[in-house]
Amino acid sequence: MQLHSLGYMGLNVSDLAAWQRFSRRLLGTQSRRFALPDGREAVTLRLDEKCHRFILTQAEADGAHYFGLELADAAALEAARRQLADAGVPFTEATRDELALRRVRQMIWLRDPDGNRVELYHGLEDAAEPFVPDRPLGGFRTGELGMGHIVLIVAQLERARDFYCKLLGFRVSDYVLEPNRRVFMRINGRHHSLALGERAGSGIAHVMVEVNEFDDVGRAYDVAQTEYASGIFSTLGRHSNDLMTSFYVKTPSGFPIEYGWGGRVVDEASWQIEELFGPSLWGHDRIGGAAEARSAADQQREYALEQGIRAPLQWVGATPADEYAAAPRSASQGTDQHQSASAAKADHVE
Ligand SMILES: [Fe+2]
Repeated sequence: MQLHSLGYMGLNVSDLAAWQRFSRRLLGTQSRRFALPDGREAVTLRLDEKCHRFILTQAEADGAHYFGLELADAAALEAARRQLADAGVPFTEATRDELALRRVRQMIWLRDPDGNRVELYHGLEDAAEPFVPDRPLGGFRTGELGMGHIVLIVAQLERARDFYCKLLGFRVSDYVLEPNRRVFMRINGRHHSLALGERAGSGIAHVMVEVNEFDDVGRAYDVAQTEYASGIFSTLGRHSNDLMTSFYVKTPSGFPIEYGWGGRVVDEASWQIEELFGPSLWGHDRIGGAAEARSAADQQREYALEQGIRAPLQWVGATPADEYAAAPRSASQGTDQHQSASAAKADHVE
């Protein structure tokens, strides 16, 4: 199966207003609230030119998540149907309402071995209007790399890995064995669009979004420390495998979101699967995690320190240093809206 990217995720949420606040203050996504045909309220979050990447539906309780994996077109989705049928794996065609909510042309869905709802689709709509983040921001890194990554808690690692790799066509990038087994898998240049962690529980371990500008990670971390301090799950740090510099903070639905910059792009020709010494080169103190996982991460960080393990910075962003030097500092980062506001102020000063 030729999956292109992780395209969207959706979930039931109990507090839409909290998510909109979280978007405006911390994430810098573009939120939109509207009523569904059945009367329920929904909030969508945009990260880019697509109509949305997160679909949040009002409900009594948080949960019932789903995520969409993109195929190229109708022919690729038809090939996926045939492949699932040949393998004897049951799947369900999307209803008209489901297509309308997701704004995709076609979609089928199935359950992974742990019960997560996996949707295979093509044709996620572009938005009619340009992306305008809820606060000034240098944008999110999406495109061919997809919306980010999702990490799931699974009961049996091999069973879940085989579902994603043998059936859906994911490729293993690398893995961690201690203190619990984790495997990281890709479908495009992003080091992992999906990872699986074997431990007690179920559902989403975390979701990652990546910004184009390093300063936006620091700025979101400021907001996390002042406005969402009790929800910080993992401090600022740098991962050893995708080389992302990031922190983790709990969303209003309870699971953490990883907010990062500088993820590596995998070179398929030279990539080698390896066992990692641990998940992070430095930082990522798991202050919101289980005690055992936290102390294991502490030891792994100490090992990296003693060994002097380091990795080259992965430059991301459309603004190399010389462009920054040439650009007016206050107006270079934001949206057109912010630029014109800044230009108006400059006029006033002159
Ligand atoms: Fe992550």
